[in-house]
Amino acid sequence: MNRIMVVKRRFFLLLVTLSLLFTQAVMAQEAPLTFPGKTNPHNGDDCLVCHTRDGEPGKSNFIKNVCVTCHSAAAVDKQIHLLQGANPASENIAVPEDFPLTNETLDCLTCHAVACKPDRSNKNFLRGGPYKTELDFCYQCHQSQGYQPVNPHDQLRVDGSQDNATCLHCHIKIPTAEDHPTISNAMHLDMTATCNKCHALHQHESNHQGRDLFHSKKAVAARFQETQTRYQIKMPLSEDRKIQCNTCHNPHERGLLSTENVVYEKSSESNAHYLRLSKEKLCYGCHDL
Ligand code: HEC
Ligand code: HEC
Ligand code: HEC
Ligand code: HEC
Ligand code: HEC
Ligand code: HEC
Ligand code: HEC
Ligand code: HEC
Repeated sequence: MNRIMVVKRRFFLLLVTLSLLFTQAVMAQEAPLTFPGKTNPHNGDDCLVCHTRDGEPGKSNFIKNVCVTCHSAAAVDKQIHLLQGANPASENIAVPEDFPLTNETLDCLTCHAVACKPDRSNKNFLRGGPYKTELDFCYQCHQSQGYQPVNPHDQLRVDGSQDNATCLHCHIKIPTAEDHPTISNAMHLDMTATCNKCHALHQHESNHQGRDLFHSKKAVAARFQETQTRYQIKMPLSEDRKIQCNTCHNPHERGLLSTENVVYEKSSESNAHYLRLSKEKLCYGCHDL
């Protein structure tokens, strides 16, 4: 394999592996990331789970390797990111100086700066955050030049057949016609996080993302229902009936699904911005403008 091939293959892995491995884990119910029966110390009052008794809790008295008493490094290695044998001195890798290594190799704290409150709402869930996209975090260490972004919305091959590898960027399993809707609609992360792997969250979403249509003075719930009836489309809300990315976008390629829930303006048109309705109709869909 020549150098360019290697680079391309690496990027393919870079984008695909994360989702693929997650999928396998969820499907096979194998090795949980957190050992069963452990209580969650994050955000709690008991500092002594991770800090020793000498002095106030701080950087100096943090108990080494405490993370892996509750979390499985093997599962992280398999499902999230290579740890075992990962070589930070590898030629395509440049670890920033402020990303600490342990014994010249990757450790939990290399990537997670947050120890006390490590959930996704914390900007340091990924060290150096917040990032516009999760991919931006990857590029802290991996070189971005020369990589061709994989487009998971290109779901049909030239011959019209379905490219199953693309599904797993978002879905926990490749949906089939037999699947119950709760399975075929299941993503491995919540909707925002799913899209945020590769897309920045822009202004256009901040008015809408997570907003409650049914308790809003700015939008009309009846209109939303009428719109769906009039165009015979479904604009999915989250389980708790909030607006999310796929309320307005259908991220599938035209022709993939039998019921697309999209109104195409022209028979020849591909799915511009993957919107369910043209922009104008979409806004009228919920607002009396
Ligand atoms: C799940 C383990 C864990 C728990 C529980 C925990 N910490 Fe920490 N804490 C850490 C780690 C890991 C570090 C960072 C060590 C490093 O950066 O070298 C840290 C660092 C700190 C720091 C230094 C932060 C800085 O940026 O300098 C303070 C202060 C701190 N912890 C206070 C607390 C207090 C107070 C509690 C209890 C309310 C607590 N921690 C509970 C793991 C924990
Ligand atoms: C005493 C056990 C314990 C220790 C020690 C511990 N954790 Fe956790 N951690 C948990 C539990 C329990 C959860 C919740 C798991 C779940 O909800 O599935 C969790 C959740 C997490 C999450 C996911 C948060 C989210 O909302 O997605 C991360 C990341 C994490 N821990 C990292 C760490 C790191 C890094 C350390 C070491 C500094 C550490 N943990 C130490 C028990 C522990
Ligand atoms: C090379 C960077 C890297 C290293 C090293 C790393 N993680 Fe992570 N971790 C991530 C990323 C990226 C995510 C978010 C993945 C995603 O989108 O679900 C994550 C997510 C997690 C989660 C949340 C998973 C969930 O389902 O919400 C836990 C728990 C976690 N890591 C624990 C650890 C522990 C424990 C270690 C050390 C044994 C570790 N990580 C080492 C990058 C890393
Ligand atoms: C702290 C630095 C760091 C960050 C951040 C990081 N990686 Fe890595 N990554 C590494 C190292 C080091 C290796 C091992 C390279 C080697 O041994 O040749 C690696 C290897 C990989 C591999 C295996 C590549 C191969 O050739 O087998 C994949 C896939 C990967 N990373 C994906 C990601 C993704 C996706 C992200 C973002 C979510 C990410 N990495 C973030 C340091 C990092
Ligand atoms: C970019 C993310 C993404 C990718 C990639 C993706 N999907 Fe989806 N899929 C979704 C979302 C979001 C939903 C939730 C329902 C909706 O928005 O219509 C969904 C729902 C579905 C459903 C159930 C809903 C329905 O209308 O029948 C099927 C079937 C489906 N996808 C098939 C696939 C297949 C097959 C692939 C791969 C060829 C794929 N998807 C790739 C995001 C994606
Ligand atoms: C694995 C990475 C990845 C994921 C995950 C992903 N996308 Fe994309 N998306 C792309 C790429 C690559 C393109 C094409 C290049 C571009 O325009 O940015 C694209 C294009 C788009 C576009 C069209 C952009 C334009 O300029 O018209 C929309 C809209 C979109 N994605 C929405 C979504 C939504 C909604 C989700 C979550 C359900 C999602 N994407 C998940 C990578 C991703
Ligand atoms: C209320 C409807 C609505 C919601 C909710 C929504 N979008 Fe959009 N999105 C649009 C419209 C309309 C456009 C076209 C923008 C234009 O033409 O100016 C668009 C454009 C985009 C584009 C391409 C242009 C760009 O800014 O890069 C991407 C990518 C995108 N959306 C991703 C997302 C993601 C990710 C989410 C969820 C976090 C989301 N959208 C939520 C309506 C929405
Ligand atoms: C699915 C229904 C829905 C669609 C489609 C929709 N909106 Fe909204 N929009 C809402 C809801 C609900 C709110 C109110 C949020 C609140 O009350 O806090 C809102 C809020 C807004 C706001 C902020 C109003 C304010 O003063 O806070 C603007 C601006 C807006 N929408 C413009 C648009 C545009 C432009 C489009 C077309 C691209 C659009 N909306 C499509 C439901 C929708």
